[in-house]
Amino acid sequence: MNKRFNDQVSLITGGATGIGYSVAKRLGTEGSKLIIVDINDELGQQSVAEFNALGMDAILVIGDVSDEIIAENAVKAAKEKWGRLDVLINNAGITGDPGTVWDLPVSELDRVYRTNLRATYLFCQKAIPLMLKKDYGRIVNVASISGKEGNPKMVPYSSTKAAVIGLTKSVGKELCDTGIRVNCVTPAVARTKILEQTSAEIVNYMISKIPLGRPAELSEIASLITWVASEECSFTTAGVFDISGGRATY
Ligand SMILES: NC(=O)c1ccc[n+]([C@@H]2O[C@H](COP(=O)([O-])OP(=O)(O)OC[C@H]3O[C@@H](n4cnc5c(N)ncnc54)[C@H](O)[C@@H]3O)[C@@H](O)[C@H]2O)c1
Repeated sequence: MNKRFNDQVSLITGGATGIGYSVAKRLGTEGSKLIIVDINDELGQQSVAEFNALGMDAILVIGDVSDEIIAENAVKAAKEKWGRLDVLINNAGITGDPGTVWDLPVSELDRVYRTNLRATYLFCQKAIPLMLKKDYGRIVNVASISGKEGNPKMVPYSSTKAAVIGLTKSVGKELCDTGIRVNCVTPAVARTKILEQTSAEIVNYMISKIPLGRPAELSEIASLITWVASEECSFTTAGVFDISGGRATY
């Protein structure tokens, strides 16, 4: 396989399982050193042990991505161990409980906001100064088709994912005179543990909206994210890459 990430260092939030795990494995296979940040200690240990057993160079930072100290420590770990950070994948995310805006307490919006938006802000804030030292970086924020289309009974999720799209557009423009590119991806449903957080009714609704008639494969999402995280993605910044099986209408 073409080793597009030889000598690079990539930080993946929520890399213990699901989309983050698939992206981390692809980046590691293509030569990148890995920092996995995850709140799930057991799955995190398991995935990092697997990556290292495969000959990759991976470390784990356990903690909540919405905690400023965790974001700081994760970036510090990259700096201390390898002296650089090339790729940041802001992937950790939660759906929140299912329910209408008039049923859900506002505390549910606050909870989802912390993981989906605040953490993305924090990791950009802490990572960019280190990337600027080499005037190179690729930031990929994992938003969602929900952020573009809006899913009923998912207001905290849809609105915070829309905010991740807005954040991406702003931060990308702030860095246009540098070698750092900032983009986001907007996947439709993929079968991961995140679906256990919501209801079967909502999952069926989301799948029914996909013109290609099936969920995305993790390998399909990982392929796109890995390309957006690579040097080859040089002329798109502040951009939104759709991977929705035809669902996106803009
Ligand atoms: N699976 C889908 O259908 C789908 C579709 C569109 C977008 N996405 C987005 O993709 C991203 C990854 O989702 P996934 O489907 O792989 O989910 P997942 O639940 O399988 O994995 C998410 C990972 O993030 C970690 N995590 C969650 N909250 C955290 C926190 N506060 N601090 C640290 N780690 C935390 C979890 O422990 C887990 O390892 C999310 O941002 C999600 O919104 C998923």
